[in-house]
Amino acid sequence: MTNRRILGAALVAGVAFAVPAGAQAQGNLTVYCSVQEEWCRPMMAAFERATGIRVAMTRKSSGETMTQIRAEASNPRGDVWWGGTGDPHMQAAQENLTVEYRSPRLAELHPWATRQAEQAQFRTVGIYAGALGYSYNTRELERRRIAAPTCWADLARPEFRGEVQVADPNTSGTAYTMLATLVQVMGEEPAFTYLRALHRNVNQYTRSGAAPARAAATGETLVGITFLHDAVTQKLAGAPVNIVAPCEGTGYEIGSMSIIRGARNMENARRFYDWALSPEAQAIAGTANTFQLPSNRASPIPPQAPRFEDVRLIDYDFARWGSSEERTRLLARWEREVRAGAR
Ligand code: F6P
Repeated sequence: MTNRRILGAALVAGVAFAVPAGAQAQGNLTVYCSVQEEWCRPMMAAFERATGIRVAMTRKSSGETMTQIRAEASNPRGDVWWGGTGDPHMQAAQENLTVEYRSPRLAELHPWATRQAEQAQFRTVGIYAGALGYSYNTRELERRRIAAPTCWADLARPEFRGEVQVADPNTSGTAYTMLATLVQVMGEEPAFTYLRALHRNVNQYTRSGAAPARAAATGETLVGITFLHDAVTQKLAGAPVNIVAPCEGTGYEIGSMSIIRGARNMENARRFYDWALSPEAQAIAGTANTFQLPSNRASPIPPQAPRFEDVRLIDYDFARWGSSEERTRLLARWEREVRAGAR
Protein backbone atom coordinates (compact mmCIF):
# COMPACT_ATOMS: atom_id res chain seq x y z
CA MET A 1 0.00 0.00 0.00
CA THR A 2 1.37 3.45 -0.84
CA ASN A 3 1.74 6.12 1.85
CA ARG A 4 -1.10 8.11 0.27
CA ARG A 5 -3.35 5.07 0.40
CA ILE A 6 -2.45 4.39 4.05
CA LEU A 7 -3.22 8.00 4.91
CA GLY A 8 -6.48 7.77 2.98
CA ALA A 9 -7.46 4.56 4.75
CA ALA A 10 -6.62 6.12 8.13
CA LEU A 11 -8.73 9.17 7.39
CA VAL A 12 -11.65 7.00 6.34
CA ALA A 13 -11.28 5.03 9.55
CA GLY A 14 -11.23 8.31 11.49
CA VAL A 15 -7.72 7.83 12.90
CA ALA A 16 -6.16 11.08 14.14
CA PHE A 17 -2.40 11.60 13.76
CA ALA A 18 -2.14 13.52 17.00
CA VAL A 19 1.58 12.86 17.63
CA PRO A 20 3.95 14.98 15.52
CA ALA A 21 5.38 12.75 12.80
CA GLY A 22 9.00 13.55 13.80
CA ALA A 23 8.50 12.63 17.44
CA GLN A 24 6.74 9.41 16.51
CA ALA A 25 9.50 8.40 14.14
CA GLN A 26 12.14 8.89 16.85
CA GLY A 27 10.42 6.56 19.31
CA ASN A 28 10.68 6.28 23.06
CA LEU A 29 13.09 5.89 25.93
CA THR A 30 12.58 4.83 29.54
CA VAL A 31 15.03 6.40 31.98
CA TYR A 32 15.49 5.54 35.63
CA CYS A 33 16.79 8.71 37.22
CA SER A 34 18.60 8.71 40.59
CA VAL A 35 19.48 12.37 41.08
CA GLN A 36 17.10 14.94 42.53
CA GLU A 37 13.76 15.32 40.74
CA GLU A 38 14.66 19.02 40.14
CA TRP A 39 17.52 17.90 37.89
CA CYS A 40 15.85 14.80 36.36
CA ARG A 41 12.99 16.80 34.84
CA PRO A 42 14.90 19.52 32.91
CA MET A 43 17.40 16.91 31.74
CA MET A 44 14.69 14.73 30.18
CA ALA A 45 12.88 17.72 28.70
CA ALA A 46 16.11 18.96 27.06
CA PHE A 47 16.79 15.52 25.56
CA GLU A 48 13.25 15.37 24.17
CA ARG A 49 13.70 18.80 22.61
CA ALA A 50 17.08 17.89 21.13
CA THR A 51 16.02 14.57 19.61
CA GLY A 52 12.23 14.26 19.40
CA ILE A 53 12.53 11.03 21.44
CA ARG A 54 9.81 10.72 24.07
CA VAL A 55 11.15 10.00 27.55
CA ALA A 56 9.29 8.18 30.30
CA MET A 57 11.21 8.91 33.51
CA THR A 58 10.96 7.49 37.01
CA ARG A 59 12.92 8.94 39.94
CA LYS A 60 14.18 6.61 42.64
CA SER A 61 17.23 6.52 44.91
CA SER A 62 20.35 4.64 43.85
CA GLY A 63 19.93 1.49 45.95
CA GLU A 64 16.22 1.28 45.17
CA THR A 65 16.90 1.51 41.44
CA MET A 66 19.54 -1.21 41.63
CA THR A 67 17.00 -3.47 43.40
CA GLN A 68 14.35 -2.67 40.79
CA ILE A 69 16.64 -3.40 37.82
CA ARG A 70 17.60 -6.71 39.40
CA ALA A 71 13.94 -7.61 40.00
CA GLU A 72 13.10 -6.78 36.37
CA ALA A 73 16.09 -8.64 34.89
CA SER A 74 13.99 -11.32 33.18
CA ASN A 75 11.66 -8.67 31.71
CA PRO A 76 13.54 -5.35 31.63
CA ARG A 77 11.37 -2.23 31.62
CA GLY A 78 14.04 0.47 31.72
CA ASP A 79 16.56 1.47 29.03
CA VAL A 80 18.99 3.82 30.79
CA TRP A 81 19.86 4.31 34.45
CA TRP A 82 21.06 7.89 34.71
CA GLY A 83 22.63 9.26 37.90
CA GLY A 84 22.99 7.98 41.40
CA THR A 85 26.14 6.96 43.22
CA GLY A 86 28.65 4.73 41.45
CA ASP A 87 28.77 1.76 43.83
CA PRO A 88 25.38 0.26 42.90
CA HIS A 89 26.13 0.93 39.20
CA MET A 90 29.36 -1.06 39.69
CA GLN A 91 27.40 -3.83 41.36
CA ALA A 92 24.84 -3.88 38.52
CA ALA A 93 27.72 -4.19 36.04
CA GLN A 94 29.21 -7.10 37.94
CA GLU A 95 25.84 -8.82 38.15
CA ASN A 96 25.47 -8.56 34.37
CA LEU A 97 22.42 -6.31 34.64
CA THR A 98 23.90 -3.62 32.40
CA VAL A 99 25.71 -3.70 29.05
CA GLU A 100 29.04 -2.55 27.70
CA TYR A 101 28.96 0.67 25.70
CA ARG A 102 31.96 2.75 24.68
CA SER A 103 30.69 6.22 23.90
CA PRO A 104 32.67 8.23 21.36
CA ARG A 105 32.70 10.92 24.07
CA LEU A 106 34.80 8.85 26.51
CA ALA A 107 37.94 10.65 25.40
CA GLU A 108 36.43 13.97 26.57
CA LEU A 109 36.03 12.87 30.19
CA HIS A 110 38.11 13.38 33.33
CA PRO A 111 40.29 10.37 34.25
CA TRP A 112 38.12 9.60 37.33
CA ALA A 113 35.12 9.12 35.04
CA THR A 114 36.84 6.87 32.51
CA ARG A 115 38.52 4.88 35.28
CA GLN A 116 35.05 4.06 36.60
CA ALA A 117 34.14 2.82 33.10
CA GLU A 118 37.31 0.73 32.78
CA GLN A 119 36.80 -0.87 36.20
CA ALA A 120 33.29 -1.96 35.13
CA GLN A 121 34.29 -3.27 31.67
CA PHE A 122 32.56 -0.20 30.20
CA ARG A 123 29.18 -1.17 31.61
CA THR A 124 28.99 2.18 33.41
CA VAL A 125 30.61 5.59 33.20
CA GLY A 126 31.13 8.58 35.49
CA ILE A 127 28.89 11.58 34.85
CA TYR A 128 29.66 13.73 37.94
CA ALA A 129 31.48 13.62 41.27
CA GLY A 130 30.93 15.02 44.74
CA ALA A 131 32.34 14.67 48.26
CA LEU A 132 30.46 13.52 51.36
CA GLY A 133 30.02 15.50 54.56
CA TYR A 134 27.29 17.12 56.60
CA SER A 135 25.54 20.39 57.32
CA TYR A 136 24.10 21.77 60.53
CA ASN A 137 21.52 24.42 61.28
CA THR A 138 23.39 27.35 62.85
CA ARG A 139 20.29 28.79 64.59
CA GLU A 140 19.41 25.47 66.21
CA LEU A 141 23.03 24.90 67.23
CA GLU A 142 23.15 28.28 68.91
CA ARG A 143 19.80 27.78 70.60
CA ARG A 144 20.99 24.47 72.06
CA ARG A 145 24.42 25.91 72.97
CA ILE A 146 26.29 23.01 71.41
CA ALA A 147 29.88 23.39 70.18
CA ALA A 148 30.10 23.33 66.38
CA PRO A 149 30.96 19.86 65.02
CA THR A 150 33.91 19.54 62.62
CA CYS A 151 34.62 15.80 62.54
CA TRP A 152 32.76 12.50 62.08
CA ALA A 153 33.56 11.73 65.74
CA ASP A 154 31.64 14.82 66.93
CA LEU A 155 28.33 13.48 65.60
CA ALA A 156 28.50 10.55 68.03
CA ARG A 157 28.72 12.90 71.03
CA PRO A 158 25.85 12.59 73.57
CA GLU A 159 24.66 16.18 73.00
CA PHE A 160 23.71 15.18 69.45
CA ARG A 161 21.21 12.56 70.67
CA GLY A 162 18.22 12.60 68.30
CA GLU A 163 19.77 15.46 66.34
CA VAL A 164 21.34 13.69 63.34
CA GLN A 165 19.61 12.61 60.15
CA VAL A 166 21.00 10.37 57.42
CA ALA A 167 19.48 8.10 54.79
CA ASP A 168 19.13 4.32 54.87
CA PRO A 169 22.10 2.76 53.01
CA ASN A 170 19.84 0.05 51.54
CA THR A 171 17.82 2.58 49.54
CA SER A 172 20.23 5.49 49.33
CA GLY A 173 23.57 5.62 47.55
CA THR A 174 24.58 8.59 49.71
CA ALA A 175 24.20 6.60 52.91
CA TYR A 176 26.03 3.60 51.43
CA THR A 177 28.86 6.00 50.49
CA MET A 178 28.97 7.03 54.16
CA LEU A 179 29.09 3.41 55.31
CA ALA A 180 31.91 2.48 52.92
CA THR A 181 33.70 5.78 53.65
CA LEU A 182 33.78 5.21 57.41
CA VAL A 183 35.07 1.67 56.90
CA GLN A 184 37.87 3.07 54.74
CA VAL A 185 38.65 6.02 57.05
CA MET A 186 38.51 4.18 60.40
CA GLY A 187 38.89 0.47 59.60
CA GLU A 188 35.86 -1.86 59.69
CA GLU A 189 35.60 -2.70 63.41
CA PRO A 190 36.03 0.90 64.68
CA ALA A 191 33.64 2.06 61.94
CA PHE A 192 30.88 -0.26 63.18
CA THR A 193 31.50 0.79 66.78
CA TYR A 194 31.12 4.39 65.61
CA LEU A 195 27.97 3.61 63.57
CA ARG A 196 26.34 1.98 66.62
CA ALA A 197 27.08 5.13 68.64
CA LEU A 198 25.81 7.34 65.82
CA HIS A 199 22.63 5.23 65.62
CA ARG A 200 21.65 6.48 69.08
CA ASN A 201 21.82 10.04 67.75
CA VAL A 202 19.92 9.42 64.51
CA ASN A 203 16.34 10.73 64.52
CA GLN A 204 15.40 9.22 61.15
CA TYR A 205 16.86 7.11 58.34
CA THR A 206 15.33 8.65 55.21
CA ARG A 207 14.85 6.86 51.88
CA SER A 208 16.51 9.53 49.78
CA GLY A 209 20.07 10.69 50.36
CA ALA A 210 19.57 14.43 49.96
CA ALA A 211 16.52 14.67 52.29
CA PRO A 212 18.63 15.27 55.46
CA ALA A 213 20.12 18.43 53.87
CA ARG A 214 16.59 19.79 53.42
CA ALA A 215 15.70 18.81 57.00
CA ALA A 216 18.81 20.59 58.37
CA ALA A 217 17.89 23.66 56.33
CA THR A 218 14.46 23.91 57.94
CA GLY A 219 15.72 23.01 61.42
CA GLU A 220 13.71 19.77 61.45
CA THR A 221 17.03 18.12 62.28
CA LEU A 222 20.14 19.79 63.68
CA VAL A 223 22.58 17.85 61.49
CA GLY A 224 22.04 16.24 58.08
CA ILE A 225 24.63 13.89 56.57
CA THR A 226 24.65 14.24 52.75
CA PHE A 227 26.92 15.07 49.87
CA LEU A 228 28.34 18.57 50.30
CA HIS A 229 26.71 19.74 47.06
CA ASP A 230 23.24 18.93 48.41
CA ALA A 231 23.93 21.18 51.40
CA VAL A 232 25.22 23.93 49.08
CA THR A 233 21.83 23.90 47.29
CA GLN A 234 20.15 24.67 50.63
CA LYS A 235 22.66 27.31 51.68
CA LEU A 236 22.31 29.17 48.39
CA ALA A 237 18.54 29.13 48.85
CA GLY A 238 19.15 31.11 52.05
CA ALA A 239 19.07 28.38 54.71
CA PRO A 240 21.04 29.07 57.94
CA VAL A 241 23.44 26.15 57.55
CA ASN A 242 27.15 25.55 57.85
CA ILE A 243 28.73 22.88 55.69
CA VAL A 244 31.39 20.53 57.07
CA ALA A 245 33.95 18.35 55.31
CA PRO A 246 34.85 16.05 58.25
CA CYS A 247 38.34 16.46 59.74
CA GLU A 248 39.26 12.74 59.65
CA GLY A 249 38.83 12.73 55.87
CA THR A 250 35.88 11.78 53.74
CA GLY A 251 34.79 9.78 50.72
CA TYR A 252 33.13 10.81 47.50
CA GLU A 253 30.83 9.54 44.81
CA ILE A 254 31.28 9.12 41.12
CA GLY A 255 27.71 9.62 39.93
CA SER A 256 27.24 7.15 37.09
CA MET A 257 25.17 6.12 34.08
CA SER A 258 24.51 2.65 32.67
CA ILE A 259 22.49 1.03 29.86
CA ILE A 260 20.21 -1.73 31.13
CA ARG A 261 20.67 -5.21 29.65
CA GLY A 262 17.72 -6.09 27.41
CA ALA A 263 16.82 -2.42 26.86
CA ARG A 264 13.86 -2.27 24.48
CA ASN A 265 15.09 1.00 22.96
CA MET A 266 18.78 0.27 22.63
CA GLU A 267 19.49 2.74 19.85
CA ASN A 268 17.84 5.59 21.75
CA ALA A 269 19.60 4.52 24.94
CA ARG A 270 22.95 5.03 23.21
CA ARG A 271 21.83 8.43 21.89
CA PHE A 272 20.89 9.50 25.41
CA TYR A 273 24.19 8.18 26.77
CA ASP A 274 26.27 10.17 24.26
CA TRP A 275 24.16 13.28 24.74
CA ALA A 276 24.32 13.07 28.56
CA LEU A 277 28.14 13.13 28.37
CA SER A 278 28.16 16.35 26.34
CA PRO A 279 29.07 19.70 27.95
CA GLU A 280 25.67 21.13 26.90
CA ALA A 281 23.73 18.40 28.70
CA GLN A 282 25.99 18.55 31.76
CA ALA A 283 25.51 22.32 32.03
CA ILE A 284 21.82 21.70 32.86
CA ALA A 285 22.90 20.74 36.41
CA GLY A 286 23.85 24.32 37.28
CA THR A 287 20.51 25.66 36.00
CA ALA A 288 18.74 23.16 38.28
CA ASN A 289 20.69 24.40 41.33
CA THR A 290 22.66 21.21 41.70
CA PHE A 291 26.39 21.53 42.15
CA GLN A 292 28.29 18.32 41.42
CA LEU A 293 31.56 18.33 39.46
CA PRO A 294 30.76 17.38 35.84
CA SER A 295 32.70 14.58 34.10
CA ASN A 296 33.28 16.19 30.70
CA ARG A 297 36.50 18.23 30.82
CA ALA A 298 34.87 20.95 28.71
CA SER A 299 31.83 21.29 31.02
CA PRO A 300 31.85 24.45 33.07
CA ILE A 301 32.25 23.79 36.81
CA PRO A 302 29.57 25.74 38.67
CA PRO A 303 31.45 28.32 40.80
CA GLN A 304 29.49 27.22 43.88
CA ALA A 305 30.46 23.53 43.50
CA PRO A 306 32.55 22.22 46.44
CA ARG A 307 36.06 21.54 45.13
CA PHE A 308 37.96 18.35 45.90
CA GLU A 309 41.09 20.45 46.61
CA ASP A 310 39.35 21.94 49.65
CA VAL A 311 38.43 18.58 51.19
CA ARG A 312 40.55 15.93 52.87
CA LEU A 313 39.57 13.21 50.42
CA ILE A 314 40.29 9.49 50.78
CA ASP A 315 41.28 7.28 47.87
CA TYR A 316 37.86 5.59 47.73
CA ASP A 317 38.16 2.06 46.32
CA PHE A 318 35.13 1.89 44.00
CA ALA A 319 36.02 -1.53 42.59
CA ARG A 320 36.03 -3.05 46.06
CA TRP A 321 33.12 -1.24 47.76
CA GLY A 322 31.02 -1.36 44.58
CA SER A 323 31.49 -5.12 44.26
CA SER A 324 28.46 -7.29 44.79
CA GLU A 325 30.11 -9.24 47.63
CA GLU A 326 31.25 -6.24 49.69
CA ARG A 327 28.14 -4.11 49.17
CA THR A 328 25.84 -7.01 50.08
CA ARG A 329 28.00 -7.93 53.07
CA LEU A 330 28.29 -4.38 54.44
CA LEU A 331 24.56 -3.71 54.09
CA ALA A 332 23.67 -6.95 55.86
CA ARG A 333 26.11 -6.17 58.66
CA TRP A 334 24.70 -2.64 59.03
CA GLU A 335 21.16 -4.03 59.17
CA ARG A 336 22.12 -6.62 61.83
CA GLU A 337 24.47 -4.59 64.02
CA VAL A 338 23.32 -1.00 63.61
CA ARG A 339 19.73 -0.66 62.44
CA ALA A 340 18.46 -3.49 64.67
CA GLY A 341 20.12 -1.98 67.74
CA ALA A 342 18.31 -0.08 70.47
CA ARG A 343 18.44 3.72 70.55
O1 F6P B 1 21.11 14.53 43.17
C1 F6P B 1 21.77 14.66 44.38
C2 F6P B 1 22.49 13.40 44.76
O2 F6P B 1 23.15 13.66 45.98
C3 F6P B 1 23.52 12.90 43.76
O3 F6P B 1 24.72 13.60 43.77
C4 F6P B 1 23.65 11.46 44.16
O4 F6P B 1 24.22 10.65 43.18
C5 F6P B 1 22.22 11.10 44.46
O5 F6P B 1 21.59 12.30 44.93
C6 F6P B 1 22.13 10.02 45.48
O6 F6P B 1 20.82 9.88 45.88
P1 F6P B 1 20.43 8.71 46.88
O7 F6P B 1 21.29 8.81 48.09
O8 F6P B 1 18.99 9.04 47.21
O9 F6P B 1 20.59 7.43 46.18
